[in-house]
Amino acid sequence: MVRSQAWYPPAASMKRIFAASALVLISLPVAAGEEAWNDAGAAAHGASILRPFKRDLQAALRQGLSEGSEQAIRVCRLEATRIASALSTDDVRVGRTSHKLRNPRNAPKPWMAPLLSEYRGNPKQAQPQAVALENGRIGYAEPIFVQPPCLTCHGEDIPPPVRERLAELYPEDRATGFRSGDFRGMFWAEFPKPAEFPGPE
Ligand code: HEC
Repeated sequence: MVRSQAWYPPAASMKRIFAASALVLISLPVAAGEEAWNDAGAAAHGASILRPFKRDLQAALRQGLSEGSEQAIRVCRLEATRIASALSTDDVRVGRTSHKLRNPRNAPKPWMAPLLSEYRGNPKQAQPQAVALENGRIGYAEPIFVQPPCLTCHGEDIPPPVRERLAELYPEDRATGFRSGDFRGMFWAEFPKPAEFPGPE
């Protein structure tokens, strides 16, 4: 039954991923002179920042879907942004992005594009990652995969009323044609490096 499924990876499986990989995958730093630092703590911190975003979004989407597709589209359109803004502060930002966008406003920032390509190229190995950004900040990403409930709005066979509404709202929509299990995009967070983490030498 789709309802009982975890749509996004639960925190527990994330923890296992971190525990399993003694060396957390760190991508190349974007700024010259900034060393990549090996820090499971950075990724764990990113995961804890994303947790409420994923939880609230999933709850809102579930509620929206129970009230019909119109309401669910409203949730995805407005609530996703509202939840992301509510969890963002001066220092912390969260959001979603994709290689196949529905809303162009979710376009990847420069640091996200290489991670998207990497995840797409090897979705079976896609794991959460932390990267060093400029100004000592950290970028953190978690891959998102398509689950059955997503197909109503992102699948190959979208019900006509949903398709029409989406076409009205998103004339440039590219986020359709997915199948269950496909790589869909990623959650991301940006935050300052917590003081207790070891920085570059
Ligand atoms: C009821 C329709 C609906 C369902 C169901 C739905 N989405 Fe979406 N999705 C949308 C809409 C509408 C947007 C555009 C949101 C915006 O304007 O920012 C969107 C945007 C996204 C984005 C942001 C990137 C982009 O393309 O703009 C991701 C990632 C995403 N959806 C993943 C999922 C996943 C994963 C699921 C299943 C867990 C899912 N969606 C279920 C309608 C839906």
